[in-house]
Formats: sequence, structure tokens, C-alpha cells
Amino acid sequence: MQLPDEAITYDYKNLLAQPLEEWTPASELRQQHFLSADVLQELTPRVLQVRSQLATERELKQIPPKLQPLQAGFINLPQTLLEQHKRQGDACVLGRVLRLAATMREEVDRFVVLGIGGSYMGARALFEAVRSSCHNDLPSKDRAGTPRIYFEGNNADNDTLHELFEMLSITCVDPDVREERWGACVISKGGDTLETAAAFRAFRRELAEYYGSHSPQRKSLLVPITGEAGKLRSLVNADGFSEENILTIPDDVGGRFSVFTPVGLFPAAVMGLDVRALLLGAAAMTKRFLEERFENNPVLQFAAVNYLMYTKYHKPIRVMSIWSKKLEALGLWYDQLLAESLGKQGVGPTPITAVDTRDMHSRGQQHQDGARDKVINNLVVKTWANPPIMIGMSDRNEDDLNRFNRKGLPDVMRAAREGTNKAYYDVARPTADLVLPVISEHTLGQLMQMLMLATVVEARLLGVNPYGQPGVQAYKANMIELLKQPAM
Ligand code: PA5
Repeated sequence: MQLPDEAITYDYKNLLAQPLEEWTPASELRQQHFLSADVLQELTPRVLQVRSQLATERELKQIPPKLQPLQAGFINLPQTLLEQHKRQGDACVLGRVLRLAATMREEVDRFVVLGIGGSYMGARALFEAVRSSCHNDLPSKDRAGTPRIYFEGNNADNDTLHELFEMLSITCVDPDVREERWGACVISKGGDTLETAAAFRAFRRELAEYYGSHSPQRKSLLVPITGEAGKLRSLVNADGFSEENILTIPDDVGGRFSVFTPVGLFPAAVMGLDVRALLLGAAAMTKRFLEERFENNPVLQFAAVNYLMYTKYHKPIRVMSIWSKKLEALGLWYDQLLAESLGKQGVGPTPITAVDTRDMHSRGQQHQDGARDKVINNLVVKTWANPPIMIGMSDRNEDDLNRFNRKGLPDVMRAAREGTNKAYYDVARPTADLVLPVISEHTLGQLMQMLMLATVVEARLLGVNPYGQPGVQAYKANMIELLKQPAM
């Protein structure tokens, strides 16, 4: 297990208004659009009160109607899982996750995660952040015993699912050879999500066809991850799956808050990630959230600054501007977390994920010069995992790059980010930096827990319930009604 890295930080000084700044047209705009330190200070007692409220909500046995639904189980979960693992080893949830994942890794070379929304976005974010961006193209020996990873059941797209089956049938011909075996997990807390359920049915057919309907692999290479009750659990029980091979999502953890339950941990372990380091990072963030003063507390800072930007400074668009391609799926995970948790009762900021420098060439113009309706949170990784690729000298200098020959891509990225921040500052566009020392399981654990906690704090400040997503029911009900009509 790796040692804890440095802690992640939230640096928002760039969006604080300077009261004594000399008058210029731009400084007047900054007074209007940047955060006043006094306004932030005024809010701080309320933020601390919300923190105490969340600390109490964790312990509630009887949930009062006005708090329902309440799914605060994610707050203590990382620490609880680690402690149980220390005491009970293989017998506890984390022990079973690790054991089932180790078997899957030994048995298959391709692994499919079926799930939608909170039931897959965290796993995808972890995969893209930690594994090589060319992971699935590497030969088996260069993937350190980790299968290729695919995500499905997150849509009703006929062609992508068809293409995945086609690829499996072309590449997997002999089920006796590990390199030609594939497995899957199906993740659905409620167990009745149509997109995932339909894909699961199709996968069961494929598994039975490939391994044989009576082969043990039809079940051993398929791990169901679901709530304590529901259609998926009934189905796998009826199909004779052993309880030992079913992983349970706790009742008191909601879908988009479930990355540190088997929903995220099992796929992460199949990918060969250090899940204990993930949990240690998350547990460290909970501790920081509960114990640190505002000045050292990135959860409270992030929630307060972004809440004020939305409510007081009229910034309904929240851009997560990501300066590492490997964190794009993390940005999309946060989009979902924010949108489903705060987008209620006619309120809630709209999240946007931008990946830079790529999106400087698509969104940059609007961020610099468009409507003043955005706050930009840069997600910055301080240290790259790999040695720098240098620009270097070339005999042909028509591209005029020899003048930068001693610079590498990390220098280009830093110049782009600092140049962008300055350009936005100069025209009074607020930006702040969320800084990760490196990309690792430990920092990702901290970051994801931080964003989940901050989202709940923000919801309580806004007066909406962060848990549940009643608005999603409308499309589901209509879809089911339409499907009942005779086929055209
Ligand atoms: O955050 C949530 O609760 C949702 O996004 C769910 O994760 C998503 O709708 C999938 O639900 P289920 O896991 O029940 O299939």
C-alpha cells in the first residue's frame, strides 16, 4: 500500500475581491463579480452549523420526515470498511470485494461493468484516472494481470452494445484460455433500472452461449452488486447465485454517493487499484471535514465559495476546468453528483466539465468573453506521473519551436493554465484552483469524498435535500408506458 501523499487543497484567493484595488474599469468589474472576504466571513458560522448538522445526521436512527430521504452513510463508510477489514479480514465487505476481484482478475482478460449513473461513473472515473489511457490496447503482460475494462448498461444504445458483443465474439473463441475469457459485474442499487436490466439480460444470454448454460462460469464470472432487496436481487437469487458472490450496496448510501461501497470498490479492485489507499484518502477527508477549521477545510471552503458564487454573485454555471485529460471522467462524475443532488425545486447550478487545453479551443472564447454567468474551478495536478516530453531541437525549424527547445509539455500546460487564469482575472472572470499533488488512489479518495461532502453541505445551505432524485422518475414512467404499447 502506498504512503499517504500530501493533502489536496482548494485555493480561492484568485477570486477574492481586493477592496483597496486602484480604480480601473476592470477592477470595478472585479468588485462586482468577485467574492468579498466579508461576505464569506458572514457565511462561515452558517457553514459550521451545517457541518454540525451533517455530523448529527450520520448518527440518526429515527429519520424525521422532513429529512427524508437521508442517506448519510457515505460519510463514515471509508473508515468503517477499513476498521472492519483490520478486525475481520476476508469475512468483511472489503475482504469479500478483494477476494472476488482477485478471482476475476485471475480468470478473465476482459471485464465489463454494467451500470448507469451513480452505479458506474465513479468506477469509470477511477479507471481513466489511474490506469494507462491505452490500457485496453496493451498486451496482457503489460497490464500486470489486470483485465481490459469496458462499461455498458449505461444507455439503451443498440449499436454500442452490439459492437461490444461483436468484439467479444471475435476475440474470445476458446473459453479454456484465460486470454479469451471475459466476465462482468452488474450494478444496480434499486435493481429495476431498465437500461442496466436490459443489458444484463443480453449479457446473461451471451454468457450462457459462450460458457454453456450449465457451466459454473456462467455464475462465477458474473458478480451482481445490488441493494438489500429488489428485482435484481430476486433474479440472481432465483437463478441460484450464491450469497457469497453477491455484493450488497448499503441502504443508507445513495447511488451517486456510492463509489466507496462495492459499486466502486469491486470494479476498482478488478482494475488492480489499491482500494485501501482510496479508502484511506476518503477517510482522511472525512476527518479533515469534521475536525479542521474553515481555513484548513477544503470541503467547507469549496461549498461556501461555490454556494456564494451561485446565490450572491449570480453564477448559475459551474465549470470544472480540468488540466489533465485523465480526469475527464472524474469531471463527469462530479457533473452527475452536482446535477442530481442540487438540481431540485427550481434551483441548482448547472455543472460543466471542460478539459484543457483541449476545450480552450471550443469553450475558451465563451469563458473569456461570453455571459458573466460562470465560476471556474480549475482541477490542477501538480506533478505528472511520467518524465516530461521535451520540445527539443530540430533541423527543420519552420514551426519556430527551437526557441522552446528546453521546454516540455508540463511547461506548456503550466503556461496555458497560468495564462488562462490571468486572462480571466484581467476581465473579472472568477477562477479558483483545486489542487491534487499527484493522481493516485489516495488523492482520488480524498477528492471524491471532498466533492461528495461539499455537495451535501451546499445542498443544506441551499435548502434542498441532496439525496434522492425524484425528478428522474418522470422519464422512467413515460418510457415504461410507451414500451407497453404494441411494437410498431
Ligand atoms: O445517484 C443515483 O442514485 C442515480 O444516479 C443512480 O445511481 C442511477 O439512477 C442508477 O440506479 P440503480 O443503481 O438503482 O440502477
